[in-house]
Amino acid sequence: MYGVERSFIREILRVASSPEVLSLAGGLPLADLFPVDEIRAAADRVLMQDGASVLQYGASSGDAGLRSWIADRLCSHHGIPTTPDEVMITSGSQQGLDLCAKLFSDRPIAFEDPGYLGARLAFQASRVPLIPVPLNDAGPDLETLEQAFDTGAAVYYGMSRFQNPTGRSYTTATADTMAELLNRSDRWMIEDDPYGEISFGKTDSPLLARRVPERVVYLGSFSKSVAPSLRLGFIRAHCSLLEHLEPIKQATDLHTSTLIQSILRELLTGGEFNLDAHLSRICHTYQAQRDALVQAIETLVPGSRIPWVAGGGMFLWASLPVPTDELFGHAIKRGVAFVPGQHFYLQEPDRSTIRLNFTNVSERLIPDAVERIAAAVQDM
Ligand SMILES: Cc1ncc(COP(=O)(O)O)c(C=O)c1O
Repeated sequence: MYGVERSFIREILRVASSPEVLSLAGGLPLADLFPVDEIRAAADRVLMQDGASVLQYGASSGDAGLRSWIADRLCSHHGIPTTPDEVMITSGSQQGLDLCAKLFSDRPIAFEDPGYLGARLAFQASRVPLIPVPLNDAGPDLETLEQAFDTGAAVYYGMSRFQNPTGRSYTTATADTMAELLNRSDRWMIEDDPYGEISFGKTDSPLLARRVPERVVYLGSFSKSVAPSLRLGFIRAHCSLLEHLEPIKQATDLHTSTLIQSILRELLTGGEFNLDAHLSRICHTYQAQRDALVQAIETLVPGSRIPWVAGGGMFLWASLPVPTDELFGHAIKRGVAFVPGQHFYLQEPDRSTIRLNFTNVSERLIPDAVERIAAAVQDM
């Protein structure tokens, strides 16, 4: 199973990189929005001011100034009470998942279904058994989650905002009940939130880290808000957990690149770059792309259904009138790529589902991409 998933994703990435293919498959941010000049200027400044020290080995927990900036932002923007010593910098939030897999490897993990493939691969690579917890319109099915805890799971992995792959967010009522369940059962949640800042409107926050911070290992990322090649993310957790995560981080890579952390710290605090203004440009652009995709699917693909319009993030989940795994080959011939929904399921998949990324194809080309999907459906 593990090998099958890997090779399928490799195949998607291979065909999607061909210049004739419009790719709604990957999870790539729109490269036109990367703050290239600002990053170059920040890199110049840190190398000029602290050249030798930013090229040296650093602390496993990460750059002190960057951890402090993250702690302030989690408090001010996300309502998660945090001190700098509760933050550890990681090499992308993907590394946060790998470190958590190693930390929690002695017990099964309850896993939202459908869920993020990269988390599943990280947990499976550490041989952690996964217990599926189906997602419904309000969030994870709470009865199944409770049963999973009762039958041995110590931790639940999930995304409360703009989930990958479905774009769903938990309702606040579900988040409240989950918080109560985590407290009562003495269990943990790994809350993966790389899309939390890509939000298209104001909504009440479903974050569990805000409700029960001591029961949550919160994973954040700069991949979607700044640039993925930085490979910078972080874990926010109670110090008693970080104490165990730090030696695992050391064993994995000693520390995340000092140079890259310093450049990001300088970018965020140096005064020339305003992250909130940058995020509002990103959100404005992505929202228009999402709207174009929703409209194109609804008007161009008869028999399609969009169960949930994502209020943020980078993905739209839809269902089509044909099995999307069979559609894939026809779609590639027509010059468009996507990920068939079945690859995100642990249990029996719904083969009509499809995950569409709306950030990497421009708003102008989205109708063209969807026309190609509609033509592929006709071909079947
Ligand atoms: C849900 C989820 N978690 C984690 C990651 C990994 O992100 P990063 O680039 O921070 O490692 C991704 C990447 O797309 C993601 O979708």
